[in-house]
Amino acid sequence: MFSKRMTRRRSLWLGLGSLATIGISKGLSHKYGSSYMQSLDRKHKDFQVVGTASLRQRAAAKGLIYGSAGNYETLSVDPTLANSFAQECGILVPEGELKWGFVQGIRNRFDFTQGDWLANFTRTHNMLLRGHTLVWHLVLPEWFEKVVNRQNAERIFIEHIATVTKHYAGQMHSWDVVNEAIDLDHGRSDGLRQSPWLKFLGPDYIELAFRVAAEADPKALLVYNETAFEYNSSRDKARRTAILKLLERLKSKGAPIHALGIQSHLRGDGKADFNAKNFRSFLADVASLGLKILITELDVTDDELTADIDIRDRIIADVYEDYLSTVLDEPAVIAVLTWGLSDKVTWISEYAPRSDGKAVRPLPLDDSFQRKLAWNGIARAFDNAPKR
Ligand code: XIL
Repeated sequence: MFSKRMTRRRSLWLGLGSLATIGISKGLSHKYGSSYMQSLDRKHKDFQVVGTASLRQRAAAKGLIYGSAGNYETLSVDPTLANSFAQECGILVPEGELKWGFVQGIRNRFDFTQGDWLANFTRTHNMLLRGHTLVWHLVLPEWFEKVVNRQNAERIFIEHIATVTKHYAGQMHSWDVVNEAIDLDHGRSDGLRQSPWLKFLGPDYIELAFRVAAEADPKALLVYNETAFEYNSSRDKARRTAILKLLERLKSKGAPIHALGIQSHLRGDGKADFNAKNFRSFLADVASLGLKILITELDVTDDELTADIDIRDRIIADVYEDYLSTVLDEPAVIAVLTWGLSDKVTWISEYAPRSDGKAVRPLPLDDSFQRKLAWNGIARAFDNAPKR
C-alpha cells in the first residue's frame, strides 16, 4: 500500500493517517513508458475540452461545486495564486487554519485570525467556505496530552466544537465535523480508531460532535470525512463496510449528519485497481441513507511514475477523469474539492515526494498556475456529468 521509499517522517505521519492509492484497472504496465502511451494512443484520448470556461463554471453548469483547499500562508502573499483561486474555485476549505492545533493552540485561547482572513477571501470572491475539521486525532495542540483527562474531556470537546462552529455560524457551506474515525487495524468490531476521543468519551463521541455542531450552526451541512476506501482491495472494501455501518448507526440514532466526505487522495501508479462498478454501488448505498456526498481532498500523486512530464501528466489526467466520471454519476455527489489548486502549493511535495527529486505534478494547475491536462481531465468530467 505505501511507497517503499517512504521517509521516516512520512511513514510516521502516514502511520496515523492512511494513504489512498488508486490505479486504473486497465491492466496498465507498471512502467508507464511506451506501454501506457500505447494504451492511451489506443484510446485516442486527447483530453480536448470545449471553450475556456473555468472549473467553477463547468461545475456550476451541472449544479455542482468545485473548489480547493487553500492556506493563508500562500494566498495572503501570492496574488497570482489568489487570482487562480478566484477564477477556478467556487468553494475554499482552509488547509489547516481551522484544525484544533491551529485554532486552539493555546488552551482557552482561540485564534481565528487566519481562518477569518480566508473567510473574508471567500466573501470577496463570491466563493463558498467549508470548514475542516472540528474533531480529528491529528494536529492536536501540545497542551492536549497534559491537560485532557477522563473527567474534563467531554467539557473540553464540547466547548471547542461549539466555540469554533459558532464563530463561523452562517458562513459555512459545510463542516468536516469528524475526520478519519475508522482504523480497522485497531481491532474494534465497529472498526473505530482508538483515538483520544474514543478513549475518553467512548464511541458516542461521534454522535455528540454532530449534535454540538448542529446546535452551534443549524445552517451548515455536517459531514463525516474519511480517507483510503476508494479501491478494490480487501482492505478498502472492509473500510467501506465499516464506514457504511457507522453512517447507518448515526442515522438510526437521529444524529444530525448530512453527508459523507470522501477524501480521494489518489495515486497514478496503477498498483491497485479501481473498480468503478463496486465503488459506484457503495456511493448508491451512502445516498440511500439520505446522505449527500462530497469529494473533499482530491489529488493524484505521481511519485512512482516516469520522470517524463508529458506521460506523467497524461496518466494523472486519466485518473482524474476516470475517477470523477464514476463518482459524478451519483446524483448525491454535490461538490468536488482538490487538496490544492497548483503544483506550487501542495502537501504532496512532502507527503509523496519523488525519489528523483523532480517536482511533483498532482494538481490541476502547474507551478506557474497554467492549466495542465489534469485540469482538462476534471473539466471533461464536469462537462460529461449529469446535471443535478
Ligand atoms: C494535511 C495538510 O495538507 C498538510 O499541510 C499537513 O502537514 C498535514 O495535513 N487528510 C486530511 C487533511 O484530512 O487534513 C490532511 O492535510 C491531508 C490528509
